[in-house]
Amino acid sequence: MANSLESAVWDVLRGIRFPGMSRDIVSFGFVDKVSADGGAVRVALTIVTQNAEAARQVRQQAESAIAALPGARSVDVELKLSVPPPRQEAAQQAIARDPRLIPEVTHVVAVASGKGGVGKSTVAANLAVALARLGYRTGLLDADIYGPSVPTMFGIHERPRVVGERVVPFERYGVKLMSLGFVVDADQPVIWRGPMVMKALEQLLGDVDWGALDFLVADFPPGTGDAQLTMAQKIPMAGAVVVTTPQDVALIDARKGLAMFRKLNVPVLGIVENMATFVCPHCGETTDVFKRGGGERTAKELETEFLGRIPLDGAIVEGGDVGVPIVVGQPDGPHAKAFAALAEAVAAAADRHTRQPMSIV
Ligand SMILES: Nc1ncnc2c1ncn2[C@@H]1O[C@H](COP(=O)(O)OP(=O)(O)O)[C@@H](O)[C@H]1O
Ligand SMILES: [Mg+2]
Repeated sequence: MANSLESAVWDVLRGIRFPGMSRDIVSFGFVDKVSADGGAVRVALTIVTQNAEAARQVRQQAESAIAALPGARSVDVELKLSVPPPRQEAAQQAIARDPRLIPEVTHVVAVASGKGGVGKSTVAANLAVALARLGYRTGLLDADIYGPSVPTMFGIHERPRVVGERVVPFERYGVKLMSLGFVVDADQPVIWRGPMVMKALEQLLGDVDWGALDFLVADFPPGTGDAQLTMAQKIPMAGAVVVTTPQDVALIDARKGLAMFRKLNVPVLGIVENMATFVCPHCGETTDVFKRGGGERTAKELETEFLGRIPLDGAIVEGGDVGVPIVVGQPDGPHAKAFAALAEAVAAAADRHTRQPMSIV
């Protein structure tokens, strides 16, 4: 468990920018570890740069800022320097992963599933709102270009504004929203091929004025395909959350989803079990619809974390249909609690799996 001094240290580190860059050292992935044991603060930094002087400045800045924290009795900032890959390789990486697409987004969290209909979009939408409620600046990118559902789930049926060259995302319940569904007619079947998928996603990232966000939750098409591939190649992702249902067969699909992200070098943050238990609308009692404990077992079998369990409830369907996510419609209900716990677990997991350090040449 992180204690309050530890989180204060993380806050301090988030305020430190690499000299000459606009990003902070946490979002660059330079902070490996923070611990604060009875006031003894230890921080481990690995900075990928050729500019050793700048890295030392960062360390000094960190040391003095942490020393000024109440409760910090000693400060030890360990600095490791890592030399970036040769220029040509770096250039190739820069083409592949282009952080300029969304320079001010700290964590991109992909919500994925092995197959459709497991509640991926529902989980993505409610997770985004729950993260916003925890105080994180949050966006939701509907990357399910084959079946966008953010317009319906948030009740938005108009086109986004364009200011200058950039599209302004909608904002509902504290979450910035963008979906191809805002610009493509719902009854027009869209047949996307690889390069078009790539172009569309690039625009949803780079042409949208997302601004500074702590989390961008991305709702992916089910299965494994071009969209996931494109995103994983284009932007550094903090990790993937895999949604599954309690039936045994879902395990096979979840396994496929996990394998794909791992192959793409995107860390899997864990799995969420959706439609796990049934909450009686009359008495509020909870019943297991399927075998209990499947989520934990699945997580263990797939060697990943179990992030949480969302109950089955008709109110979720209704909320999705009228454009009011359940965490907004019933903020004190069991689902809101489940999603708040999920948001906390996702935030903690994203922090642990900080993105791979990017190089500053
Ligand atoms: N926990 C839940 N309880 C009841 N219905 C749910 C739950 N999660 C999702 N649903 C419903 O299941 C259907 C499919 O969900 P959706 O989020 O669109 O899945 P996906 O994005 O994986 O295709 C929707 O009608 C949705 O309202
Ligand atoms: Mg969906």
